[in-house]
Amino acid sequence: MNVAIIGGTGYVGLVTGVGLAAHNHQVICADINETKINGLNNGILPIYEEGLSDLLSEVKARKKIHFTSNISAAVEASDIIFVSVGTPEGKNGETDISQLVRALKSIANNMNTYKLIAIKSTVPVGTNEMARKFLQSNLKNHSCSFDVVSNPEFLRVGSAVQDFLSPERIIVGADSKKAADMMKKLYSSFDTPIIVTDTKSAEMIKYACNSYLATRISFINEIAEICEKVNADIHAVLDGMKLDKRIGGLYLSPGPGFGGPCLSKDIKSLINTGVKANANVNLLKSVMGRNDVQIMNIMHTVEHELAEMDAKKVSVLGLSFKAGTNDTRNSPAIRLIEKLIEKNYEIVVYDPVVKQLEDVLNPQVTFSKSADEAAKGSDCLIIMTEWDEFKKMDLKSVYYRMRTPVIIDTRNILSVEEAFKAGIRYSGIGTRKLQNKETMKVYRNIV
Ligand code: UDX
Repeated sequence: MNVAIIGGTGYVGLVTGVGLAAHNHQVICADINETKINGLNNGILPIYEEGLSDLLSEVKARKKIHFTSNISAAVEASDIIFVSVGTPEGKNGETDISQLVRALKSIANNMNTYKLIAIKSTVPVGTNEMARKFLQSNLKNHSCSFDVVSNPEFLRVGSAVQDFLSPERIIVGADSKKAADMMKKLYSSFDTPIIVTDTKSAEMIKYACNSYLATRISFINEIAEICEKVNADIHAVLDGMKLDKRIGGLYLSPGPGFGGPCLSKDIKSLINTGVKANANVNLLKSVMGRNDVQIMNIMHTVEHELAEMDAKKVSVLGLSFKAGTNDTRNSPAIRLIEKLIEKNYEIVVYDPVVKQLEDVLNPQVTFSKSADEAAKGSDCLIIMTEWDEFKKMDLKSVYYRMRTPVIIDTRNILSVEEAFKAGIRYSGIGTRKLQNKETMKVYRNIV
Protein backbone atom coordinates (compact mmCIF):
# COMPACT_ATOMS: atom_id res chain seq x y z
CA MET A 1 0.00 0.00 0.00
CA ASN A 2 1.11 3.62 -0.54
CA VAL A 3 1.82 5.18 2.85
CA ALA A 4 2.89 8.66 3.94
CA ILE A 5 4.27 9.41 7.39
CA ILE A 6 3.91 13.05 8.42
CA GLY A 7 6.44 13.66 11.18
CA GLY A 8 8.53 11.01 9.49
CA THR A 9 11.93 11.74 11.04
CA GLY A 10 11.21 11.29 14.75
CA TYR A 11 11.47 8.14 16.86
CA VAL A 12 7.98 6.97 16.00
CA GLY A 13 7.66 8.29 12.46
CA LEU A 14 11.01 7.09 11.18
CA VAL A 15 10.78 3.67 12.80
CA THR A 16 7.20 3.25 11.55
CA GLY A 17 8.18 4.29 8.01
CA VAL A 18 11.19 1.99 7.84
CA GLY A 19 9.22 -0.84 9.46
CA LEU A 20 6.31 -0.58 7.01
CA ALA A 21 8.77 -0.36 4.08
CA ALA A 22 10.38 -3.56 5.37
CA HIS A 23 6.89 -5.08 5.07
CA ASN A 24 6.91 -4.09 1.37
CA HIS A 25 4.69 -1.02 1.57
CA GLN A 26 5.70 2.02 -0.50
CA VAL A 27 6.55 4.69 2.09
CA ILE A 28 7.13 8.43 1.93
CA CYS A 29 8.48 9.91 5.16
CA ALA A 30 7.61 13.63 5.14
CA ASP A 31 8.81 16.22 7.60
CA ILE A 32 9.17 20.01 7.69
CA ASN A 33 12.68 19.56 9.13
CA GLU A 34 14.72 19.77 5.91
CA THR A 35 18.02 19.13 7.70
CA LYS A 36 16.83 15.76 8.93
CA ILE A 37 15.23 14.95 5.56
CA ASN A 38 18.41 15.75 3.65
CA GLY A 39 20.42 13.76 6.18
CA LEU A 40 18.18 10.74 5.76
CA ASN A 41 18.39 10.96 1.97
CA ASN A 42 22.16 10.75 2.47
CA GLY A 43 21.94 7.88 4.95
CA ILE A 44 22.43 10.07 8.05
CA LEU A 45 20.10 9.03 10.87
CA PRO A 46 18.78 11.75 13.24
CA ILE A 47 18.40 9.15 16.01
CA TYR A 48 20.26 6.04 17.10
CA GLU A 49 18.17 2.87 17.43
CA GLU A 50 19.52 -0.67 17.33
CA GLY A 51 19.02 -2.15 13.84
CA LEU A 52 17.54 1.01 12.28
CA SER A 53 20.51 1.90 10.10
CA ASP A 54 20.77 -1.56 8.50
CA LEU A 55 17.01 -1.78 7.95
CA LEU A 56 16.94 1.70 6.39
CA SER A 57 19.75 0.75 3.99
CA GLU A 58 17.89 -2.41 3.01
CA VAL A 59 14.57 -0.70 2.26
CA LYS A 60 16.27 2.20 0.47
CA ALA A 61 18.09 -0.30 -1.75
CA ARG A 62 14.70 -1.78 -2.65
CA LYS A 63 13.39 1.76 -3.26
CA LYS A 64 10.57 1.16 -0.76
CA ILE A 65 11.10 4.43 1.09
CA HIS A 66 12.05 8.00 0.42
CA PHE A 67 12.17 11.22 2.40
CA THR A 68 10.75 14.60 1.49
CA SER A 69 9.89 17.93 3.01
CA ASN A 70 7.12 18.30 0.42
CA ILE A 71 4.17 17.34 2.64
CA SER A 72 1.66 18.14 -0.11
CA ALA A 73 3.18 15.69 -2.57
CA ALA A 74 3.34 13.02 0.12
CA VAL A 75 -0.36 13.45 0.89
CA GLU A 76 -1.38 13.33 -2.78
CA ALA A 77 0.65 10.20 -3.51
CA SER A 78 -0.61 8.10 -0.58
CA ASP A 79 -3.66 6.05 0.38
CA ILE A 80 -2.87 5.95 4.12
CA ILE A 81 -1.39 8.98 5.85
CA PHE A 82 0.14 8.41 9.29
CA VAL A 83 0.52 11.42 11.56
CA SER A 84 3.34 10.87 14.04
CA VAL A 85 4.25 14.44 14.94
CA GLY A 86 5.28 15.40 18.45
CA THR A 87 2.61 15.99 21.07
CA PRO A 88 4.72 17.48 23.86
CA GLU A 89 3.59 18.39 27.35
CA GLY A 90 1.98 21.80 27.37
CA LYS A 91 1.12 24.03 30.33
CA ASN A 92 -0.31 22.38 33.49
CA GLY A 93 0.06 18.90 32.02
CA GLU A 94 -2.12 19.53 28.97
CA THR A 95 -0.97 18.00 25.70
CA ASP A 96 0.22 20.45 23.05
CA ILE A 97 -1.42 19.26 19.79
CA SER A 98 -0.39 22.28 17.69
CA GLN A 99 1.90 20.14 15.48
CA LEU A 100 -0.98 17.72 14.91
CA VAL A 101 -3.28 20.56 13.84
CA ARG A 102 -0.63 21.82 11.41
CA ALA A 103 -0.35 18.34 9.89
CA LEU A 104 -4.14 18.06 9.58
CA LYS A 105 -4.24 21.43 7.83
CA SER A 106 -1.69 20.20 5.26
CA ILE A 107 -3.76 17.08 4.68
CA ALA A 108 -6.98 19.09 4.31
CA ASN A 109 -5.31 21.36 1.77
CA ASN A 110 -3.91 18.55 -0.37
CA MET A 111 -6.47 15.75 -0.29
CA ASN A 112 -7.10 14.82 -3.93
CA THR A 113 -9.05 11.59 -3.41
CA TYR A 114 -10.18 9.29 -0.55
CA LYS A 115 -7.56 9.15 2.18
CA LEU A 116 -7.26 7.18 5.39
CA ILE A 117 -5.58 9.27 8.09
CA ALA A 118 -4.02 7.25 10.92
CA ILE A 119 -3.09 9.21 14.04
CA LYS A 120 -0.10 7.46 15.60
CA SER A 121 0.96 10.31 17.87
CA THR A 122 -0.12 9.93 21.48
CA VAL A 123 -3.13 12.24 21.76
CA PRO A 124 -5.74 12.89 24.46
CA VAL A 125 -8.94 10.88 24.34
CA GLY A 126 -11.34 12.57 21.90
CA THR A 127 -8.64 14.02 19.62
CA ASN A 128 -9.54 11.64 16.79
CA GLU A 129 -13.08 13.04 16.78
CA MET A 130 -11.68 16.59 16.78
CA ALA A 131 -9.41 15.69 13.86
CA ARG A 132 -12.34 14.39 11.80
CA LYS A 133 -14.34 17.57 12.38
CA PHE A 134 -11.28 19.74 11.67
CA LEU A 135 -10.62 18.00 8.36
CA GLN A 136 -14.28 18.20 7.35
CA SER A 137 -14.40 21.96 7.98
CA ASN A 138 -11.02 22.69 6.41
CA LEU A 139 -11.20 20.37 3.40
CA LYS A 140 -10.27 22.24 0.20
CA ASN A 141 -11.65 19.62 -2.16
CA HIS A 142 -15.10 18.80 -0.78
CA SER A 143 -15.58 15.99 -3.28
CA CYS A 144 -13.03 13.95 -1.30
CA SER A 145 -14.12 11.57 1.43
CA PHE A 146 -11.84 10.36 4.20
CA ASP A 147 -11.66 8.42 7.45
CA VAL A 148 -9.57 9.04 10.55
CA VAL A 149 -8.35 6.13 12.69
CA SER A 150 -6.32 5.93 15.85
CA ASN A 151 -3.24 3.66 15.72
CA PRO A 152 -1.18 4.26 18.88
CA GLU A 153 2.33 2.85 19.13
CA PHE A 154 4.11 1.21 22.06
CA LEU A 155 7.75 1.57 21.00
CA ARG A 156 10.39 1.88 23.70
CA VAL A 157 13.49 4.03 23.29
CA GLY A 158 16.40 1.68 22.76
CA SER A 159 14.31 -1.17 21.31
CA ALA A 160 12.07 0.75 18.89
CA VAL A 161 12.79 -1.31 15.76
CA GLN A 162 12.27 -4.62 17.56
CA ASP A 163 9.11 -3.28 19.22
CA PHE A 164 7.69 -2.14 15.86
CA LEU A 165 8.53 -5.30 13.91
CA SER A 166 7.39 -7.66 16.68
CA PRO A 167 4.58 -5.88 18.51
CA GLU A 168 2.57 -7.77 21.12
CA ARG A 169 -0.59 -6.28 19.67
CA ILE A 170 -1.70 -3.67 17.16
CA ILE A 171 -4.45 -1.30 18.26
CA VAL A 172 -6.78 0.26 15.70
CA GLY A 173 -9.51 2.70 16.67
CA ALA A 174 -11.92 3.02 13.76
CA ASP A 175 -15.47 4.28 13.29
CA SER A 176 -15.97 2.75 9.83
CA LYS A 177 -15.60 -0.81 8.52
CA LYS A 178 -13.80 0.45 5.42
CA ALA A 179 -11.15 2.14 7.56
CA ALA A 180 -10.76 -0.87 9.83
CA ASP A 181 -10.39 -3.21 6.84
CA MET A 182 -7.70 -0.99 5.29
CA MET A 183 -5.69 -1.03 8.51
CA LYS A 184 -6.06 -4.80 8.82
CA LYS A 185 -4.77 -5.11 5.25
CA LEU A 186 -1.85 -2.78 6.01
CA TYR A 187 -0.81 -4.89 9.00
CA SER A 188 -1.83 -8.27 7.52
CA SER A 189 1.84 -9.28 7.15
CA PHE A 190 2.45 -8.82 10.90
CA ASP A 191 2.12 -11.96 12.96
CA THR A 192 0.32 -10.32 15.88
CA PRO A 193 -3.23 -9.78 17.20
CA ILE A 194 -4.97 -6.69 15.76
CA ILE A 195 -7.50 -5.22 18.18
CA VAL A 196 -10.10 -3.03 16.48
CA THR A 197 -12.13 -0.80 18.75
CA ASP A 198 -13.69 2.66 18.71
CA THR A 199 -11.35 5.65 18.48
CA LYS A 200 -11.75 6.89 22.06
CA SER A 201 -10.99 3.47 23.51
CA ALA A 202 -7.92 3.16 21.27
CA GLU A 203 -6.64 6.54 22.45
CA MET A 204 -7.33 5.50 26.06
CA ILE A 205 -5.45 2.19 25.68
CA LYS A 206 -2.22 4.08 25.09
CA TYR A 207 -2.61 6.27 28.18
CA ALA A 208 -3.78 3.37 30.33
CA CYS A 209 -0.72 1.31 29.34
CA ASN A 210 1.84 4.02 30.03
CA SER A 211 0.12 5.08 33.24
CA TYR A 212 0.05 1.48 34.42
CA LEU A 213 3.77 1.05 33.72
CA ALA A 214 4.48 4.25 35.65
CA THR A 215 2.25 3.01 38.49
CA ARG A 216 4.21 -0.23 38.79
CA ILE A 217 7.45 1.72 38.97
CA SER A 218 6.20 4.14 41.62
CA PHE A 219 4.67 1.24 43.53
CA ILE A 220 7.94 -0.69 43.79
CA ASN A 221 9.85 2.47 44.64
CA GLU A 222 7.51 3.01 47.59
CA ILE A 223 7.84 -0.64 48.68
CA ALA A 224 11.63 -0.22 48.46
CA GLU A 225 11.54 2.80 50.77
CA ILE A 226 9.51 0.88 53.35
CA CYS A 227 12.00 -2.03 53.04
CA GLU A 228 14.85 0.35 53.91
CA LYS A 229 12.99 1.65 56.93
CA VAL A 230 12.08 -1.79 58.31
CA ASN A 231 15.34 -3.47 57.23
CA ALA A 232 13.72 -5.84 54.73
CA ASP A 233 15.54 -6.70 51.49
CA ILE A 234 13.90 -5.54 48.25
CA HIS A 235 15.73 -8.24 46.28
CA ALA A 236 14.09 -10.96 48.40
CA VAL A 237 10.73 -9.19 48.25
CA LEU A 238 10.90 -9.06 44.43
CA ASP A 239 11.87 -12.74 44.28
CA GLY A 240 8.79 -13.50 46.31
CA MET A 241 6.51 -11.31 44.19
CA LYS A 242 7.46 -12.02 40.59
CA LEU A 243 6.68 -15.74 40.66
CA ASP A 244 3.02 -14.83 41.07
CA LYS A 245 1.78 -14.88 37.46
CA ARG A 246 -0.65 -12.06 38.29
CA ILE A 247 2.31 -9.84 39.23
CA GLY A 248 5.33 -10.93 37.16
CA GLY A 249 8.69 -9.20 37.42
CA LEU A 250 8.72 -6.62 34.65
CA TYR A 251 8.54 -2.91 35.47
CA LEU A 252 9.19 -3.70 39.11
CA SER A 253 12.82 -2.60 39.29
CA PRO A 254 13.31 0.11 41.92
CA GLY A 255 15.26 3.11 40.70
CA PRO A 256 15.64 6.89 40.63
CA GLY A 257 12.11 7.26 39.27
CA PHE A 258 10.82 7.00 35.72
CA GLY A 259 12.15 9.41 33.13
CA GLY A 260 12.04 9.63 29.37
CA PRO A 261 9.85 11.47 26.87
CA CYS A 262 6.64 9.57 27.47
CA LEU A 263 5.69 8.15 30.85
CA SER A 264 5.50 11.42 32.78
CA LYS A 265 3.99 13.32 29.85
CA ASP A 266 1.34 10.68 29.30
CA ILE A 267 0.30 10.23 32.92
CA LYS A 268 0.06 14.03 33.36
CA SER A 269 -2.07 14.22 30.21
CA LEU A 270 -4.36 11.47 31.51
CA ILE A 271 -4.66 13.26 34.86
CA ASN A 272 -5.60 16.39 32.92
CA THR A 273 -8.20 14.48 30.91
CA GLY A 274 -9.61 12.96 34.09
CA VAL A 275 -9.82 16.28 35.92
CA LYS A 276 -11.58 17.90 32.95
CA ALA A 277 -14.03 14.99 32.91
CA ASN A 278 -14.59 15.45 36.63
CA ALA A 279 -13.14 12.03 37.45
CA ASN A 280 -11.27 11.24 40.66
CA VAL A 281 -7.62 10.77 39.62
CA ASN A 282 -5.95 10.63 43.05
CA LEU A 283 -4.09 7.40 42.27
CA LEU A 284 -2.53 8.80 39.08
CA LYS A 285 -1.56 11.99 40.92
CA SER A 286 0.11 9.95 43.66
CA VAL A 287 2.12 8.02 41.02
CA MET A 288 3.61 11.32 39.85
CA GLY A 289 4.09 12.48 43.43
CA ARG A 290 5.98 9.31 44.30
CA ASN A 291 8.22 9.78 41.28
CA ASP A 292 9.30 13.19 42.54
CA VAL A 293 10.17 11.67 45.94
CA GLN A 294 12.88 9.44 44.44
CA ILE A 295 15.31 12.25 43.60
CA MET A 296 14.68 13.85 47.01
CA ASN A 297 15.47 10.55 48.71
CA ILE A 298 18.72 10.20 46.76
CA MET A 299 19.72 13.73 47.80
CA HIS A 300 18.94 12.89 51.47
CA THR A 301 21.19 9.84 51.19
CA VAL A 302 24.03 11.87 49.67
CA GLU A 303 23.80 14.47 52.44
CA HIS A 304 23.49 11.83 55.16
CA GLU A 305 26.49 9.83 53.91
CA LEU A 306 28.71 12.90 53.58
CA ALA A 307 27.37 14.78 56.59
CA GLU A 308 30.39 14.58 58.94
CA MET A 309 32.88 15.45 56.24
CA ASP A 310 33.86 18.44 54.22
CA ALA A 311 33.18 16.19 51.25
CA LYS A 312 32.37 18.12 48.12
CA LYS A 313 33.17 15.94 45.10
CA VAL A 314 30.28 13.80 43.77
CA SER A 315 30.49 11.60 40.68
CA VAL A 316 27.38 10.74 38.64
CA LEU A 317 27.53 7.63 36.46
CA GLY A 318 24.86 7.64 33.75
CA LEU A 319 23.15 10.72 32.26
CA SER A 320 20.47 9.29 29.93
CA PHE A 321 17.05 8.39 31.30
CA LYS A 322 17.91 4.70 31.09
CA ALA A 323 20.74 2.50 29.83
CA GLY A 324 20.97 1.64 26.12
CA THR A 325 20.26 5.13 24.82
CA ASN A 326 21.72 8.65 24.62
CA ASP A 327 18.28 10.14 25.24
CA THR A 328 18.40 12.52 28.21
CA ARG A 329 14.82 13.75 27.91
CA ASN A 330 13.33 14.05 31.41
CA SER A 331 16.32 12.14 32.78
CA PRO A 332 16.40 11.51 36.56
CA ALA A 333 20.18 11.97 36.37
CA ILE A 334 19.73 15.52 35.06
CA ARG A 335 17.19 16.25 37.79
CA LEU A 336 19.68 14.97 40.39
CA ILE A 337 22.56 17.03 38.95
CA GLU A 338 20.41 20.17 39.18
CA LYS A 339 19.86 19.44 42.90
CA LEU A 340 23.58 18.74 43.45
CA ILE A 341 24.43 22.07 41.83
CA GLU A 342 22.01 23.84 44.17
CA LYS A 343 23.94 22.32 47.11
CA ASN A 344 27.28 23.47 45.67
CA TYR A 345 28.83 20.05 45.20
CA GLU A 346 31.69 19.62 42.73
CA ILE A 347 30.18 17.33 40.10
CA VAL A 348 31.97 14.89 37.82
CA VAL A 349 29.89 12.93 35.29
CA TYR A 350 30.41 10.00 32.98
CA ASP A 351 28.07 8.29 30.49
CA PRO A 352 29.09 5.75 27.84
CA VAL A 353 27.17 7.59 25.07
CA VAL A 354 26.08 11.01 26.38
CA LYS A 355 29.04 13.33 25.92
CA GLN A 356 27.42 16.68 26.59
CA LEU A 357 24.45 18.17 28.38
CA GLU A 358 22.32 21.19 27.60
CA ASP A 359 24.27 24.45 27.63
CA VAL A 360 23.23 25.64 31.08
CA LEU A 361 24.58 22.47 32.75
CA ASN A 362 27.75 21.82 30.78
CA PRO A 363 29.94 24.44 32.48
CA GLN A 364 28.83 23.25 35.93
CA VAL A 365 29.98 19.65 35.57
CA THR A 366 33.24 17.96 34.61
CA PHE A 367 33.00 15.18 32.02
CA SER A 368 35.13 12.11 32.65
CA LYS A 369 36.26 9.65 29.99
CA SER A 370 35.47 6.57 32.07
CA ALA A 371 33.83 5.41 35.26
CA ASP A 372 37.29 4.84 36.75
CA GLU A 373 38.33 8.40 36.00
CA ALA A 374 35.05 9.70 37.43
CA ALA A 375 35.69 7.79 40.68
CA LYS A 376 39.18 9.23 41.20
CA GLY A 377 39.26 11.43 44.29
CA SER A 378 35.48 11.31 44.59
CA ASP A 379 33.60 11.42 47.90
CA CYS A 380 30.43 9.81 46.55
CA LEU A 381 29.73 7.75 43.43
CA ILE A 382 26.07 7.78 42.32
CA ILE A 383 25.01 5.17 39.74
CA MET A 384 21.98 6.49 37.82
CA THR A 385 21.65 4.08 34.87
CA GLU A 386 22.12 0.35 34.53
CA TRP A 387 24.87 0.17 31.87
CA ASP A 388 26.72 -3.16 31.88
CA GLU A 389 30.08 -1.43 32.31
CA PHE A 390 28.89 -0.04 35.64
CA LYS A 391 27.85 -3.53 36.74
CA LYS A 392 31.36 -4.81 36.02
CA MET A 393 33.30 -2.18 37.98
CA ASP A 394 36.18 -3.56 40.08
CA LEU A 395 34.98 -2.41 43.49
CA LYS A 396 38.35 -2.84 45.21
CA SER A 397 39.94 -0.58 42.59
CA VAL A 398 37.07 1.89 42.99
CA TYR A 399 37.66 1.85 46.76
CA TYR A 400 41.27 2.95 46.37
CA ARG A 401 40.46 5.51 43.67
CA MET A 402 37.82 7.32 45.70
CA ARG A 403 38.70 9.79 48.45
CA THR A 404 35.68 8.64 50.47
CA PRO A 405 34.39 5.17 49.47
CA VAL A 406 30.64 5.90 49.34
CA ILE A 407 28.49 4.45 46.54
CA ILE A 408 24.78 5.19 46.02
CA ASP A 409 23.47 2.64 43.55
CA THR A 410 20.03 3.85 42.38
CA ARG A 411 19.66 0.84 40.08
CA ASN A 412 20.69 -1.89 42.57
CA ILE A 413 23.13 -3.23 39.98
CA LEU A 414 25.99 -3.90 42.41
CA SER A 415 26.21 -6.65 45.02
CA VAL A 416 25.69 -5.38 48.57
CA GLU A 417 28.03 -8.09 49.84
CA GLU A 418 30.78 -7.38 47.28
CA ALA A 419 30.67 -3.68 48.11
CA PHE A 420 30.87 -4.45 51.80
CA LYS A 421 33.85 -6.77 51.29
CA ALA A 422 35.59 -4.02 49.31
CA GLY A 423 35.15 -1.69 52.30
CA ILE A 424 32.64 0.51 50.47
CA ARG A 425 29.76 2.19 52.27
CA TYR A 426 26.99 1.09 49.92
CA SER A 427 23.42 2.36 49.64
CA GLY A 428 20.95 0.83 47.20
CA ILE A 429 17.21 1.38 46.77
CA GLY A 430 15.45 -0.84 49.29
CA THR A 431 18.55 -2.92 49.95
CA ARG A 432 20.03 -3.90 53.32
CA LYS A 433 22.88 -1.79 54.74
CA LEU A 434 25.82 -4.09 55.58
CA GLN A 435 28.16 -2.16 57.84
CA ASN A 436 30.84 -2.83 60.39
CA LYS A 437 33.02 -0.45 62.36
CA GLU A 438 35.25 0.11 59.32
CA THR A 439 32.51 1.08 56.90
CA MET A 440 30.82 3.01 59.71
CA LYS A 441 33.90 5.25 59.92
CA VAL A 442 34.10 5.69 56.12
CA TYR A 443 37.85 6.18 55.88
CA ARG A 444 39.15 9.09 53.84
CA ASN A 445 41.83 7.96 51.37
CA ILE A 446 43.40 11.41 51.41
CA VAL A 447 45.47 11.24 48.25
C1 UDX B 1 7.76 3.93 27.43
C2 UDX B 1 6.85 2.72 27.25
O1 UDX B 1 7.51 1.56 27.76
C3 UDX B 1 6.54 2.51 25.76
O2 UDX B 1 5.65 1.41 25.60
C4 UDX B 1 5.91 3.79 25.20
O3 UDX B 1 5.61 3.64 23.83
C5 UDX B 1 6.83 4.97 25.44
O4 UDX B 1 7.15 5.09 26.83
P1 UDX B 1 10.33 4.48 27.12
O5 UDX B 1 9.96 5.88 27.45
O6 UDX B 1 11.27 4.20 26.03
O7 UDX B 1 8.97 3.64 26.78
O8 UDX B 1 10.96 3.89 28.44
P2 UDX B 1 10.81 2.60 29.35
O9 UDX B 1 11.77 1.57 28.90
O10 UDX B 1 9.40 2.24 29.49
O11 UDX B 1 11.34 3.20 30.77
C6 UDX B 1 10.71 4.38 31.25
C7 UDX B 1 11.43 4.81 32.54
O12 UDX B 1 11.08 3.90 33.59
C8 UDX B 1 12.94 4.81 32.44
O13 UDX B 1 13.44 5.94 33.14
C9 UDX B 1 13.34 3.52 33.16
O14 UDX B 1 14.63 3.59 33.74
C10 UDX B 1 12.26 3.44 34.22
N1 UDX B 1 12.01 2.08 34.71
C11 UDX B 1 11.58 1.12 33.85
C12 UDX B 1 12.18 1.81 36.06
O15 UDX B 1 12.58 2.67 36.84
N2 UDX B 1 11.92 0.55 36.52
C13 UDX B 1 11.49 -0.44 35.69
O16 UDX B 1 11.29 -1.57 36.17
C14 UDX B 1 11.32 -0.15 34.31
